Amino acid sequence: MADIFDAIILGGGAAGLMCAARAGQRGKRVLVLEKAEKPGKKILISGGGRCNFTNIGAGPANYLSGNPHFAKSALARYTARDFLDLVESYDIAWHEKTLGQLFCDGSSKQIVEMLLDECDKGDVTIRCDEEVSDVTHNEGFIVTTQAGVYGAHSLVIATGGPSIPKMGATGFAYDLARQFGLKIVEPRPALVPLTLGGEEVLFREISGVSASVLATAGKASFPEAALFTHRGLSGPAILQASSYWQPGEPVLIDFVPNEDPDWLVEQKQLAPRSSVRSLLREALPARLADILTEKLGVETELGNAPDKALRAAGQKLKRWEFRPNGTEGFAKAEVTVGGIATAELSSKTMESKSVPGLFAIGEAVDVTGWLGGYNFQWAWASGVAAGDAL
Ligand code: FDA
Repeated sequence: MADIFDAIILGGGAAGLMCAARAGQRGKRVLVLEKAEKPGKKILISGGGRCNFTNIGAGPANYLSGNPHFAKSALARYTARDFLDLVESYDIAWHEKTLGQLFCDGSSKQIVEMLLDECDKGDVTIRCDEEVSDVTHNEGFIVTTQAGVYGAHSLVIATGGPSIPKMGATGFAYDLARQFGLKIVEPRPALVPLTLGGEEVLFREISGVSASVLATAGKASFPEAALFTHRGLSGPAILQASSYWQPGEPVLIDFVPNEDPDWLVEQKQLAPRSSVRSLLREALPARLADILTEKLGVETELGNAPDKALRAAGQKLKRWEFRPNGTEGFAKAEVTVGGIATAELSSKTMESKSVPGLFAIGEAVDVTGWLGGYNFQWAWASGVAAGDAL
């Protein structure tokens, strides 16, 4: 005979724990099944061990989704401020690093402990080392793991996306959703380094060099640091752009975001004895300035260079076109774009429109945040939306 609960939550990660705590504190009998030996493993490694637990400016514009309106309701009903209130109620010290990104002063462990404490307050049962292998649905849901069989009226898919398989991440959420007839938006790695090939491998020579740039992919632009690596491009600006990048498309880098395209022509008047190399060396790390100058092919003093050549060089520096030949894949992706199609779910409760009692939350759903605490905020907000509806 199966143990019967009001709700079973598959996955004890950020979204699953938040959802469980909310439902438990509303008096629901909740079971969390987690395949790892402990819950919240991605929280523990997040933000370099300090967990960038939210972004104070988080709003729908910071998310990618097949339906850009889908996340609005949940994000409005559980805001970054709400999560911060919870953090502060546990006396967890925090700081804003940059661009609204909030981190623990101490350790990510504090966030996991806080969530487990909240689950305790709701008498939530958490069983680790239990990998869900089979789910059937009749009147309710029957869930089988290698250690037991459990039943519930409601089932929440909170098993995340396939990013970082070496941590055990898989596409299990998608398989389960498909089993119930829900559509999946093709998943792809996001917040991921991009790889360069062909002539652009020359940039590998400056592996380790970073610079403040404006990186653009599709219609999205990010003013942050880009880092050259031995495989291609990384750093926050590139990771952000990667979520919007499509194979075959370029990534444009503005290496001189504070200059206008005619700045070299203007500099020719002001300082004719200077050169592209010397000006770039003032704005960028020397090795990057040198490689860009060589590629631009304008080596003379500005005073001796034709305006046309300087104008072309200035424009190229503002729209340097890289043609990545791929990404470093799910192995290095911080999150996944795509997932369970939002058209299948209620934006208020995260419940399936076609299978009553079935919910999906967190990274499993086709809602993906920018770098900077936005993904956890989605996990908390979607977890609350479902937890309050179970
Ligand atoms: P999550 O992946 O957290 O949880 C899913 C859980 O389900 C896991 O515990 C997994 O073991 C379990 N599971 C999977 N299959 C199962 C099965 N069959 N049976 C039982 N359990 C199963 N975001 C952010 O906002 N700020 C940050 O600082 C960072 N930093 C960061 C660093 C790194 C290295 C990575 C990889 C990612 C981040 N992120 C981040 C992203 C963030 O970690 C991510 O968006 C959330 O963890 C998603 O929460 P979920 O609960 O949806 O999935």
